Amino acid sequence: MTAAKITATGAYVPEREVTNEDLARVMDTSDEWIRSRTGIGSRHIAVGESTSQMAVKAAMDVLSRSRWEAEDLQFIIVATGTPDHLFPNMACLVQEAVGASHAFCFDLNAACSGFLYSLSVAKGYIESGMYERGMVIGAETISKVVDWTERSTCVLFGDGAGGVIVEKGERGIGSVVMGADGKGGDVLRCYSSNILCHSEESRKRIDYLHMDGQEVFRFAARQVPAVIEEVLDREGLQADQIGHYILHQANERIIAAVARKMKEPAEKFPVNLSRYGNTSSASIPILLHELDQAGALQPGEKLILAGFGAGLTWGAALVEWNN
Ligand code: ACO
Repeated sequence: MTAAKITATGAYVPEREVTNEDLARVMDTSDEWIRSRTGIGSRHIAVGESTSQMAVKAAMDVLSRSRWEAEDLQFIIVATGTPDHLFPNMACLVQEAVGASHAFCFDLNAACSGFLYSLSVAKGYIESGMYERGMVIGAETISKVVDWTERSTCVLFGDGAGGVIVEKGERGIGSVVMGADGKGGDVLRCYSSNILCHSEESRKRIDYLHMDGQEVFRFAARQVPAVIEEVLDREGLQADQIGHYILHQANERIIAAVARKMKEPAEKFPVNLSRYGNTSSASIPILLHELDQAGALQPGEKLILAGFGAGLTWGAALVEWNN
């Protein structure tokens, strides 16, 4: 049977790094508070750079590590909750910038689960035989939608982009399970596109990201192990047969809670939050790229990728690494 596999990775983060100490100089917070609750030490913030520009840089990085040229791509999917504008979509901007003239292009918004959702779409295209190869990118400028006077949220996020080539192969992306719970939408929301609001009053109001942190914590600690177990069940695998669990990088304590629930050692759950903060849909491809570059992923190793975020949305995928 035709499978879809990931054959190249790439990433880009903006140059400007903002440490916890930098934040403590301009707001009432501390490195100790942020690090002990989240694992975050610093984050990269886009200055004069947009989501699409970062997506283009990540796409170029992916292509430079791939055997394909831009014109060989048949589709580009950009996962983002923070596009530069409503339309044209970010994927079309990437297509134009890299010269992927044969690709069809669209964006997908599933917040921090966006990369997982997009990967599943790419898998579907390839396994069905509709297309043979494309690119999936996660790109975000969350720094533009947080209220920088609200210390409980702004310290958590960073900007960046990461991506992969997905193409036809014999093995690769296995079972994928996704879910959503629209009833939990209020827990993590950003209604900032105020021109789209229906009432005149809301049209005048800029709305930033809001989060009920403890509710998000409970949701993630419950739902992420459950969706991973479902993937393992479908694959007939035990948790200890997985080499690495590559989770959305929201919070080190969430990742540790998932590891404990799975009864798996923390070392199998890599984290790079200390350097990037939470980059939403970009976090999984950035981490995957770093692990690949570091030679940390063995050929044939089984990985779990898992995302969770606003919506509420979640998803997990089994990936047999053969990049
Ligand atoms: N620096 C110092 N103090 C702070 C800060 C800060 N940056 N932010 C909040 N505080 C204070 C609050 O004002 C409050 O003070 P008070 O007790 O005097 O009122 C105190 O710290 C506790 O505030 P809480 O909001 O209750 O903090 P909590 O202990 O819940 O920690 C956190 C917040 C880290 C966000 C936690 O809820 C959490 O880990 N949530 C998981 C959700 C998450 O990480 N989301 C990331 C994005 S979502 C996603 O990607 C899916």
